Amino acid sequence: MNRFEGKNIVITGASSGIGLAVCHRIAAEGGNIALVDINEKGLEKAQRELGRYCTKTRYFKCDVSREDEVAATADSIVREFKSIHALSHNVGILKTYNTHEMTLDQFNEIVAVNLNGTFLINKHFIPVLIKNEQSYLVNMSSIAEFHPHPWMSAYSATKGAVKSFTRSISLEYHKQGLRANCICPGSIKTGLAEEFSIPQGADASLTKYLTPFGKPHMVSPEKIAGAIAMLCSEDAFHMNGTELIVDGGRI
Ligand SMILES: NC(=O)c1ccc[n+]([C@@H]2O[C@H](COP(=O)([O-])OP(=O)(O)OC[C@H]3O[C@@H](n4cnc5c(N)ncnc54)[C@H](O)[C@@H]3O)[C@@H](O)[C@H]2O)c1
Repeated sequence: MNRFEGKNIVITGASSGIGLAVCHRIAAEGGNIALVDINEKGLEKAQRELGRYCTKTRYFKCDVSREDEVAATADSIVREFKSIHALSHNVGILKTYNTHEMTLDQFNEIVAVNLNGTFLINKHFIPVLIKNEQSYLVNMSSIAEFHPHPWMSAYSATKGAVKSFTRSISLEYHKQGLRANCICPGSIKTGLAEEFSIPQGADASLTKYLTPFGKPHMVSPEKIAGAIAMLCSEDAFHMNGTELIVDGGRI
């Protein structure tokens, strides 16, 4: 399958986990990739690995929570790639807190990356995407958006907001050919999932609500990359404003 031959795709969170797996999946199908992440060493390594597919790949270090960096990154990517056909926005952070002990700074840190970052990346790439007759945008939500996850109130709130934000966009730019959807993964084995810990003093028995099958139900990021690649491709022509749940049936 060469769905992405001649297509240029922006992938954020590209230096590790789900974003990196999406890079591999799309490059394997012939796509050129602009990798975006805050982790420059990870980006260099990812670009080296992607060399095996013989498509064009360039990386761009960027903190998605800073508008000056996102705007400059969007300009550099357009200079380098001219047109952009799809955006897969994966950047996100997870931190766990007892909600009554979380400081406003801790709450804001999660909002800044997960929600403000989504806004900024969408804001600066939508004008580029809609220059095409048809384009695709995939934002990263989570099953934490609708399934209660203890100690992740800030994280879950941002993921719910990403969903509502994306729905709004799906209508706003529909006539310009943009298809905007969310992906809602279950538990995926990545650095972010390893960040999960039970806060001190919390009721550890609540973890059973995170593992309804009785044991962790985690898969590698490659198991979700195909679903995201589909949403970035013409196979998603008739999908807009929806959330694709990829959780192995957990919910
Ligand atoms: N792993 C899971 O179980 C799971 C489940 C549901 C949703 N998600 C979502 O998937 C997305 C990807 O996470 P992952 O699991 O691959 O974890 P990950 O930690 O491997 O990837 C996150 C990436 O975001 C980058 N990043 C962090 N802050 C940044 C910033 N300010 N600017 C630019 N880049 C930044 C990191 O360097 C990293 O490469 C996240 O949005 C996460 O919420 C993950």
